Amino acid sequence: MIPLTLAEIAAITSGSVTPGGEVGPGGVVTGPVVIDSRQVTPGALFAALPGERADGHDFAAAAAAAGAAAVLASRPVLGVPAVIVPDVTAALAALAKAVLDRLPGVIVAGITGSSGKTSTKDLTAQLAERLGPTVAPEGSYNNELGLPLTVLRADASTRYLVLEMSARGAGHIAALCDMAPPRIGAVLNVGRAHAGEFGSIDEVAKAKGELPEALPADGVAILNSADPRVLAMAARTPARVVTFSAERASAAHVRAADVRLDELGRASFLLLMGDAGAPVTLRLHGAHHVPNALAAAAIAAELGMDTRAIADCLSNATSRSRWRMELRERSDGVLVVNDAYNANPESMRAAIDALAQIARGGRRGFAVLGHMAELGDITAESHEEAGRLAAQAGVTGLIAVGEQARPVLDGARAQPGWRGEAIAVPDARAAVAAIRNRLRPGDVVLVKASRAAGLTEVAAGLLEEESR
Ligand SMILES: Nc1ncnc2c1ncn2[C@@H]1O[C@H](COP(=O)(O)OP(=O)(O)O)[C@@H](O)[C@H]1O
Ligand SMILES: [Mg+2]
Repeated sequence: MIPLTLAEIAAITSGSVTPGGEVGPGGVVTGPVVIDSRQVTPGALFAALPGERADGHDFAAAAAAAGAAAVLASRPVLGVPAVIVPDVTAALAALAKAVLDRLPGVIVAGITGSSGKTSTKDLTAQLAERLGPTVAPEGSYNNELGLPLTVLRADASTRYLVLEMSARGAGHIAALCDMAPPRIGAVLNVGRAHAGEFGSIDEVAKAKGELPEALPADGVAILNSADPRVLAMAARTPARVVTFSAERASAAHVRAADVRLDELGRASFLLLMGDAGAPVTLRLHGAHHVPNALAAAAIAAELGMDTRAIADCLSNATSRSRWRMELRERSDGVLVVNDAYNANPESMRAAIDALAQIARGGRRGFAVLGHMAELGDITAESHEEAGRLAAQAGVTGLIAVGEQARPVLDGARAQPGWRGEAIAVPDARAAVAAIRNRLRPGDVVLVKASRAAGLTEVAAGLLEEESR
């Protein structure tokens, strides 16, 4: 963070400094800004938040002992210099905005969409880092808390800020754009993620469109022209529009020709941008990473990177965030695909397509699927659809984990001609037990669900088998 005095922090957040609150050399907070007292380093600002299990205020003393310069809190904490504000989350937003105001040289690129935000953010960050000092969130720090914490990592040396922007309702992305005004905004897709909260897919589109809407006239809206709801956002932005599309024969500005998938579902293609073209081979698994890579390429081009350098860098980019199509091969050749970080109907389809692609190389495919959360009215049909897709992919075994995932088996059984085995199990441990004896060397197992289903344990369990 850029150094700020407690008085400055109080002025920015409409807070008050507790008496005796002058801290450190010159009373200056140098950052980082953290919400976990275990992450405090000397000079940090510890933001005390009410958590589900614990209240951050109870950790203020520990934060101070670890060297925190001050605490941002909603009530006084004994013996620790503090800025007291009515709402700590709102104060972080105000701080982020003020810090960015003082860093006019930083270019902010925002990324939103129903699926692929984290993957695209990770790719974009790896491209931007080639051009200059870049700040991007760890994992999915993409909401009203994660975004300001990320922004607050920027300092005078930062050139690029690559941000993931998520929404669970109207106005969320607009608020994030207010905190960190993007000059470049990419929208990946509009899907059924969080359909339960939004009500309908058109509401999702409306919310994601707040990113292009927030761009300035000299900004750039990067839109997926293969998704009609995204392309329609061109009419909602004052910014210049750059399109990308992974569809064959697309006329988008940024596109992929000759897309091929290898035996592990990794895509190779010719990246086409204007008149220039360069070959890319991704290290990420699944055809769905092609549009993500194109979006990242479009952003990097706007930052001034040439096509060849983009292609080269995309080919070297790795998956930085865990449990997204994470592949591990056991010594017996069994491939475990851990995609249990989250799930919605589109990412489920993408994962099953990748499973089918990998199985095409002669492996038998298994799908261990758990519940997809937050789908509201479309919950049952979405699970049936997942089962149907798995059956169409010809899986040898389909394991539904937990009561809520049961409809996937109905969907699969309804698929004519499917000869696989449909298995219902209550939990992750039972899933591992069920699949253990069915696996043969060289099989591939996809593990996918919303995080709450706890299926990363299935992948871990299957990988542990080896060490027995
Ligand atoms: N463009 C895409 N279309 C469909 N699914 C995708 C896409 N990109 C990523 N996914 C899948 O969606 C899940 C979440 O990916 P992630 O990059 O973390 O997206 P987000 O941050 O939007 O949740 C993973 O299972 C991933 O494989
Ligand atoms: Mg994410």
